[in-house]
Amino acid sequence: MTVLVVLSSSVLAWVIWTLISLLSNYLTARRIGLPIIISPVSSLNPYWILTYRALPILPLLQSLPFNLGKWSRCTYMGWSFDDKYLLHKELGSAFTLVTPSVNEVWIADSDAAYVVLSRRKDYIKPAKMYQPLAIFGPNVNTVEGDDWQRHRKLTAPSFNEKTSTSVWDEALRQAGDMLHSWMERSTNGTRDTVAHTATLALHVLTGAGFGISYSYGKGVQTPPEGHDISYRDALLTVLQSVVLLSTVPRSWMTFRFSPAKLRKVDQATKEFQLYMAEMLINERSQIHKRSSQSRNLLTALVRASEEAKESSHEISHQGLTDDEIFGNIFIYNLAGYETTANTIATGIFLLAAYPEWQEWVAEEINLVFDEEEDSPGGRYEEAFPKLRRCLAVMFEILRLHGSNVYIPRTTGSVDSALHINGKNYIIPSGTFTMTNLQALHTDPRSWGLDSLVWRPSRWLVSTPDTVASGYTKELIEPIKGTFLPWADGPRVCPGRKVAQVEFVAVMVALFRKHRVQPVLMEGESADAGKERLRDIVNDSGLSAVTMQMRCPRAAALMWRRVE
Ligand code: HEM
Ligand SMILES: *[C@@H]1O[C@H](CO)[C@@H](O)[C@H](O)[C@H]1NC(C)=O
Ligand SMILES: *[C@@H]1O[C@H](CO)[C@@H](O)[C@H](O)[C@H]1NC(C)=O
Repeated sequence: MTVLVVLSSSVLAWVIWTLISLLSNYLTARRIGLPIIISPVSSLNPYWILTYRALPILPLLQSLPFNLGKWSRCTYMGWSFDDKYLLHKELGSAFTLVTPSVNEVWIADSDAAYVVLSRRKDYIKPAKMYQPLAIFGPNVNTVEGDDWQRHRKLTAPSFNEKTSTSVWDEALRQAGDMLHSWMERSTNGTRDTVAHTATLALHVLTGAGFGISYSYGKGVQTPPEGHDISYRDALLTVLQSVVLLSTVPRSWMTFRFSPAKLRKVDQATKEFQLYMAEMLINERSQIHKRSSQSRNLLTALVRASEEAKESSHEISHQGLTDDEIFGNIFIYNLAGYETTANTIATGIFLLAAYPEWQEWVAEEINLVFDEEEDSPGGRYEEAFPKLRRCLAVMFEILRLHGSNVYIPRTTGSVDSALHINGKNYIIPSGTFTMTNLQALHTDPRSWGLDSLVWRPSRWLVSTPDTVASGYTKELIEPIKGTFLPWADGPRVCPGRKVAQVEFVAVMVALFRKHRVQPVLMEGESADAGKERLRDIVNDSGLSAVTMQMRCPRAAALMWRRVE
């Protein structure tokens, strides 16, 4: 009886609290003056996330009469991937989502989006949301304000042309081996495109990023002296356990009776930490011996930090602490792994579904490397700028199937003015602004009536120069705020060039002499096979960190050589 009383009174208290918060947030939202959607839950509420993931409650809510469940259309993770620009078409280029915890202003106006991403002090990257990613130490992705400026300045040198050169060569090598393994599968094809491109992306990071090269076909990886698992395996386990590592306390993992999986994660975390510490010691001694070293993400990071400590007049003079160096090594790996791997895997599915675009990139690749014995290895600087179709394919993947569908910012403790669609609005303190990438990337006003069609050639235009030189065209420069897969402004993704170089190198290795197609099911026509691939790509959702295909193993892909 008392249990029932306690239970029902706490439910009542919760309901009352929700109503009061909603009312207060609603009154604040009214003052903004944008269209309003009221939701009884916040999109980041973990109970809500568990509920709709476990139960088919979303379609149910959306079929309620009088639009009672309309809020559920924009309160689940990754909703804008499904919705594209439709909700904005209904409500306008911005609207306010009122929830019991915060108000979210969703923005699909390109000018306003660009302003929000450019004014980092007015529209702050919500450090709290990214805090779980500081597993090994604070890093450029998790800090804010002056700290961020110091991190950004000291991490920027990591992303230079020498890094790009090694990314190019390593990606070519890995992709060549990956293709070889796929060819061995012959007409059976492979269902592991996603897993394999993830291995490739991981190896590009360990090799070009940190100077530890692995061969693609894994085999036995003997760990070096003092280690029980290889660097690669430690890193992979850590990357695959980010959610676990940021929610489960470390002490639970070391506990003797903890599940084996937890102990494995704990071991990998310790090993990874140890590897990073060794790399750091090694790197510092190289610097002090002034020995010339090949440059990679790590060397550049440590060097910039040590040099900063010697100079004394800048904001960055404190350099980075060891923990901050570890934090940044980890974030390079985390930020550069799934994102790039997804882009490559989704691209392969799309190219298999639309084979005409394979011919299109192959034509370019064979123009750049025209002789049979022309090896693309070592030719980053000269070849990369010419491979515009390859880059256009990447942009077109990211436009419709990017890793992020929105970018969160918050106004912090002060109000901020924002011009949206020709009108001025005051965005109150404590409001989240959500830049709706998916809506911006599919808006027919920016991308034409076929904005939902996957058409890489939309990225290329002829100019008088290119007409004179034959068939090559220039890449278009999209209007500011209409294409933001890497965000924009001061906190734009520093790894975008790395990702581009890696992607283009993989295209060269795969499509120079090979083509991909779906393995057809019994009685399936070629068109139906391609349609099936499109459905698989369309069936994507937000995993823990990025947008991904939900069932990539539902289709086998088969590679063949062409002459
Ligand atoms: C196709 C691949 C990639 C995509 C789509 C992508 C996307 C993004 C986006 C949208 C942001 C901004 C997030 C925000 O401000 O809320 C970001 C930040 C970041 N990315 Fe990437 N990224 C990619 C590849 C990479 C690679 C390869 C690296 C490193 C090797 C990297 C390192 C970072 C870092 C360190 C940040 C944080 C920067 C800061 O907050 O100042 N990314 N990325
Ligand atoms: C293809 O699959 C069949 C049946 O599972 C198997 O017997 C055959 O060895 C496979 N071929 C290749 C090249 O893997
Ligand atoms: C994509 O999937 C959504 C459901 O997730 C569906 O409503 C839509 O019709 C699909 N689009 C295509 C082109 O298949």
